[in-house]
Amino acid sequence: MVNHGMVLSALGTVTDPELHYDIVTLNMVRNIGIQGDQVTVDVALTVAGCPLHQKIERDVEEAVGKLPGVAQVNVNLDVMNDEERRTAFARAFKQSQSQKSGTEATPPRPPGDPSGSWSPMLSETSQTVVLGIASGKGGVGKSTVTANLAVALARLGFRVGVMDMDIYGYSQGRMLGAHGQAQANAQQKIIPWTAHGIHVVSMGMFVPENQAIVWRGPMLGKMMQQFFTDVAWPELDYLLIDLPPGTGDIALDVAQRLPKASLIIVTTPQVVAKEVAMRTADVAHRANQRILGIIENMSYIPMGGGQRMEVFGSGGGEDLSKQLEVPLLGQIPLESSVREGGDRGTPVLLSAPDSEASTTFLQIAQKIHAAAHA
Ligand SMILES: Nc1ncnc2c1ncn2[C@@H]1O[C@H](COP(=O)(O)OP(=O)(O)OP(=O)(O)O)[C@@H](O)[C@H]1O
Ligand SMILES: [Mg+2]
Repeated sequence: MVNHGMVLSALGTVTDPELHYDIVTLNMVRNIGIQGDQVTVDVALTVAGCPLHQKIERDVEEAVGKLPGVAQVNVNLDVMNDEERRTAFARAFKQSQSQKSGTEATPPRPPGDPSGSWSPMLSETSQTVVLGIASGKGGVGKSTVTANLAVALARLGFRVGVMDMDIYGYSQGRMLGAHGQAQANAQQKIIPWTAHGIHVVSMGMFVPENQAIVWRGPMLGKMMQQFFTDVAWPELDYLLIDLPPGTGDIALDVAQRLPKASLIIVTTPQVVAKEVAMRTADVAHRANQRILGIIENMSYIPMGGGQRMEVFGSGGGEDLSKQLEVPLLGQIPLESSVREGGDRGTPVLLSAPDSEASTTFLQIAQKIHAAAHA
């Protein structure tokens, strides 16, 4: 008899032909229905009228149809938007909070609370620099920046951890080439993955075994909490947190739980709407966090001889940095080696260390180190 876990694993092999990510990671799978040997999968496409929707549909049918005990696969296609995705996150999280404590949301436990078991590293007094990587909107390269900054900081000789807080769209396992089910130590703490010398925790450690986490609010809240309390982190100089896209409730909640963290905002060269900048600043302000700086990603295609092609316009990073009155830490070029590195689990800094993107990441890491200890 087929179950949700089997279907979810099968869907994890279906890739969005344009985005080159699997549809589970991209949060495109809205629902799975199983009735006897009939499976219904609701898939939300990232854009309306996606010309490749037939391929996705076929691939889903094929992947799920191959499972033992499946006679028929029905695929329902719909379209997602950023706002809808953010709202879904917020609802799931709010639900998890209210179910834990009746109706009111539980106030976050302060780091270092002696009655709790917060990782000592997250306490205000620890030497570890905690950096949240955030963005006003999705798909700007937060996860790519997180993975490469982690490698860059490790290159500079620091001990680095990555917490993948994008619970639905987790990607650090793939980007850093870490995999395998979560393992616990004798104290029942989660042992982080180690990849390229970096310590990583991500939802990807749990999903195949307990697919319900992806769908249900209560589990989501519990997992987020666990990332703060139940991880056997080694001593770290830097902990980078890959935040969920946008400035919705989850980003705010994560931020508020870690007042010690500073934020790095990733943006693109398109001039940023004032509203996005204001929302970002508001999150940082309400969480009492410092914004360390802005990183502009996908800034230009290097054309050789110092020439740059500005495919996505220009000025977005500078614009945001002015509006928020924080430094622009760097502009990362759009290079295929960046994407390939992320897809293969070997960040560009390791796969193409001499590329312009790699040099830029290293420079940014140096600036971050200077700013974090200023
Ligand atoms: N500088 C770059 N050059 C080329 N490709 C890039 C670059 N930065 C990111 N990408 C690619 O763009 C896509 C989106 O990047 P990424 O997943 O890091 O964004 P994100 O902000 O984390 O997205 P989400 O909001 O969905 O979490 C990926 O395929 C990534 O490989
Ligand atoms: Mg991401």
